[in-house]
Amino acid sequence: MSKFRERVFSGVQPTGGVHIGNYLGAIKRFVAMQETHECIYCVVDLHAITIWLDPRELEAGIRMITAAFIAAGINPKSHIVFNQSQVAEHAELAWVFNCVARMGWLNRMTQFKEKAGKDRENASVGLFAYPNLMAADILAYRATHVPVGEDQKQHLELARDIAQKFNTDFAERIAALGYGEAFFPLPEPLIQGPATRVMSLRDGTKKMSKSDASDYSRINLTDDAETVAQKIRKAKTDPEPLPTEVAGLEARPEADNLVGMFAALDDVTKAEVLKEFGGGQFSRFKAALADLAVAKLGPIRAEMQRLQNDTAYLDGVLAEGSHRARALARPTMDAIKDIVGLVRQRS
Ligand code: TRP
Repeated sequence: MSKFRERVFSGVQPTGGVHIGNYLGAIKRFVAMQETHECIYCVVDLHAITIWLDPRELEAGIRMITAAFIAAGINPKSHIVFNQSQVAEHAELAWVFNCVARMGWLNRMTQFKEKAGKDRENASVGLFAYPNLMAADILAYRATHVPVGEDQKQHLELARDIAQKFNTDFAERIAALGYGEAFFPLPEPLIQGPATRVMSLRDGTKKMSKSDASDYSRINLTDDAETVAQKIRKAKTDPEPLPTEVAGLEARPEADNLVGMFAALDDVTKAEVLKEFGGGQFSRFKAALADLAVAKLGPIRAEMQRLQNDTAYLDGVLAEGSHRARALARPTMDAIKDIVGLVRQRS
């Protein structure tokens, strides 16, 4: 595994279902990175409980994301797939980072403001400290590259700020213990691709979400072919024909979203999609998009179903992945204890 110098870490929350936005924005890119990087993919269950979640839903969600990872093509033997709570080092390092990050930094996090809503006093402390745990996820492995959606950019910047502050606050110890000038690398976000941000099928200005009240706003990886086709047929559009140039998608969020989905599913650019469908009506384009979505998602759905019926296998993958993840995170955590001055057992 260590033939790659660059290490990728990313996480997906096991809350609710998995939709095409999770697939195109995250999982599909995770699959591609396996060719070039050492990859660690985590089901972030500790993040999922920052907002109340039914325990049965959480269990099912953890296994569903694991199944989606594998069904989409992540290889849990050559890379690492695990759930966060099985590697205690995440929570352990998050505490240290709670003491590195500043209240002011966290107060600026837009995701907290969105998720906490009006009743901020009633949000969990965990929801506020969420970005510190995310920084711990990444830095416990000293990961260098983090594929995430646009909405996670601010959290990545915070992780860099934490890494930087730790490196300077403890610079003397870091050098004295032989770790050189910096203990943590500054992790880079990888945000790219035509559909990193898939929007709701009902409102092209809103992100596709598992918590949207309307199931017609999203395509779930568990939807059958007929449902997928129907949701695409009913997706909101505008009355104009499709533009012939990418610039013509501006200020047309629904058209832009559907063209972006097509491009990402087919691994082409939006310009190439418009070369074929530009100037035409939505009906023909939607029919083609439905066929494409069914062709790409159908096999993943079938494999997910098969895997989800085999919880013993999925739990085995997570146990084995956690074991291997812990073997990487433990030495980092021990080094951090030495740097901070937390006396530890030596074996
Ligand atoms: N916050 C991320 C999201 O909601 C999930 C996440 C948790 C994550 N820890 C991470 C992503 C570490 C990348 C790296 O999408």
